Amino acid sequence: MELYEALYTTRAMRRVSADPIPTEVVQQMLDAAIRAPSGSNMQQWRWLVLTDREAIRQLGELYSEAFDAGMDTFYAGAEERARAAGATDILRIHSSSRWLRDNMRSVPLIVVACDRNDPIGSSIYPAVWNLMLAARGAGVGTTLTTFNTHTRHAETLELLGIPADKGWRVAAIVSCGYPLGKWGVAKRPPVEKVVYQDRWGNPTDWDVPEPLWGAKT
Ligand SMILES: Cc1cc2nc3c(=O)[nH]c(=O)nc-3n(C[C@H](O)[C@H](O)[C@H](O)COP(=O)(O)O)c2cc1C
Repeated sequence: MELYEALYTTRAMRRVSADPIPTEVVQQMLDAAIRAPSGSNMQQWRWLVLTDREAIRQLGELYSEAFDAGMDTFYAGAEERARAAGATDILRIHSSSRWLRDNMRSVPLIVVACDRNDPIGSSIYPAVWNLMLAARGAGVGTTLTTFNTHTRHAETLELLGIPADKGWRVAAIVSCGYPLGKWGVAKRPPVEKVVYQDRWGNPTDWDVPEPLWGAKT
């Protein structure tokens, strides 16, 4: 797959089938992940690959609980506000997120990314993104989730046998599977809405009204 196609179309692909993912694809995803950069090349990461149905079911249950707790606290009222404002894009994310809340227990593969000794907590995310891009290249959809990093975290560590006493924490849970929907270019406000030039607030002297990959290719 062409680089830009992967960069532009690797979306949060929550709705996936239960079809198993071949081991060669799982290997490729993890091998790509660990090629990523990390601060001082410390590679303070461990990856838990869940393919056992019961292990996935149990983590899926815990994800549902973490999701509900998150929706009752920091996302409280968000769905109602979006509905009142007629914000269909946001409502679509909520609906898709709820699908994953209800179905993570039956996806074919979950990858749990764990890190430690990283005060900023950012070193693992390039690797997680590598994993997601490699999955995209193989036609596998992924969703990076973080509810369990701040809600039900202790229970997640315990369920998976992650040694918290050695400093390990869950940085992300990535659900994976073959998409039920279609790939498409990620919709975002155009570049010039979020980029300044030389000094905060200065507009760029160029703009990018349409995505530079996709429409014309
Ligand atoms: C750091 C991070 C945390 C996220 N956490 C969750 C999550 O817990 N659950 C979920 O369903 N999606 C989660 N997402 C997915 C985002 O909601 C998604 O990437 C965003 O809505 C853009 O979607 P799109 O690329 O398909 O347009 C997370 C994404 C990131 C980057």
